[in-house]
Amino acid sequence: MVDSGATPTGNLVDNLVDHPQIRPVSFVLPEAAVRTEETEITSRAFDPDRSLRALHYPLAAASQPPPGVGLAGRDRHPGVDTSAGLTKPAGLLAVYPLDAYVEARMSGSQPDVRTPIPPDEQPARLTALEAAVRARSDLVPQVGLVLGSGLGGLADELVDRVSIPFSEMPGWPAATAPGHVGRLLLGSLEGAPVVMLQGRLHLYEGNDAGLVVQPVLLMGRLGARVVVLTNAAGGVNPSFGPGSLMVIADHLNLTGHTPLLGANADALGPRFPDLTDVWTPDLQRALHRAGETEGVELSTGVYAGLLGPSYETPAEVRMLRTLGADAVGMSTVLEAIAARWAGLKVCGISLITNAGAGYTGVPLTHEEVLAAGAEAGPRLARVIRRFIRDLGES
Ligand code: HPA
Repeated sequence: MVDSGATPTGNLVDNLVDHPQIRPVSFVLPEAAVRTEETEITSRAFDPDRSLRALHYPLAAASQPPPGVGLAGRDRHPGVDTSAGLTKPAGLLAVYPLDAYVEARMSGSQPDVRTPIPPDEQPARLTALEAAVRARSDLVPQVGLVLGSGLGGLADELVDRVSIPFSEMPGWPAATAPGHVGRLLLGSLEGAPVVMLQGRLHLYEGNDAGLVVQPVLLMGRLGARVVVLTNAAGGVNPSFGPGSLMVIADHLNLTGHTPLLGANADALGPRFPDLTDVWTPDLQRALHRAGETEGVELSTGVYAGLLGPSYETPAEVRMLRTLGADAVGMSTVLEAIAARWAGLKVCGISLITNAGAGYTGVPLTHEEVLAAGAEAGPRLARVIRRFIRDLGES
């Protein structure tokens, strides 16, 4: 990716009024991606003599989905004259040519992370992200793992590891949260091909919900059918002290955000996804079995996802308990929604790093969260490794 730094002139000006967040850029895909005929991606340097709008429409017309695959235009209620259901969705594995408008928004050394990314923009974005990965690795993962605070050590255990910093993925910012390294890794763990996210993108960093969920959607695009989401969390259930591990059985999305806002991409997932079993019961059982085999105690509970970045007040923790939460954190719920929407199987474990605010009378610190994560992380890593091994054998 190269930011041309060109000064807007002529007919570019009216375009910048339409899309003030866009700076003129040229976007150069990785060499291998440029050469891959299958992805239909070609290198298109930005031509400052043409407005982005002029660039956008002809290419957008050329980038219709393959025949038989319906990308929703407008969202309507199910059954009301919509392409949903009339065409066969190709799902996450379908490849769409990169749209120039999307391409421009993903380019540059400081990508635009705030402007909303509606679901129907995800297919083109995933095409660019997949190309960036495929320029470095051919590995087709079975499982995707999101490593929260404390679990980063698992990344060191990957065999034949390929590591890509977030900042080298089109449209992704470098991770800013302390304790989060911020890279995508591919390799094998317990003999199984896996893709890992060491660190994640959070809402509280200023990222749009559509960006926060791109890593899990990308895992699906690369071939993973199962995603395992881990996180550090505060204990809302008074019996969950620091160091406890909780298999997530359900969640409360209290972030006030959803990754599914805006025009849907019916080819990726339905407009109104069912979340009854977002946390796949079979996989929960498999995690518990892995815990038993490893002699690691696991409890079960409901994870409440909040926006952060402040920890909760004691009154909020009492409220969360009343609402049925057992643990609270600042991540995971949007990833679970998007992954389920896109047809992936989801499971997860919260590592309880501290008692919820107000239980001990002592203020919470991020250092305490990191220290508890480091202490309990290796136990959680054992459970995850066993889970992956069992999955490969089942
Ligand atoms: N609250 C929210 N997020 C957290 C906490 C907490 O107490 N601990 C670790 N992540």
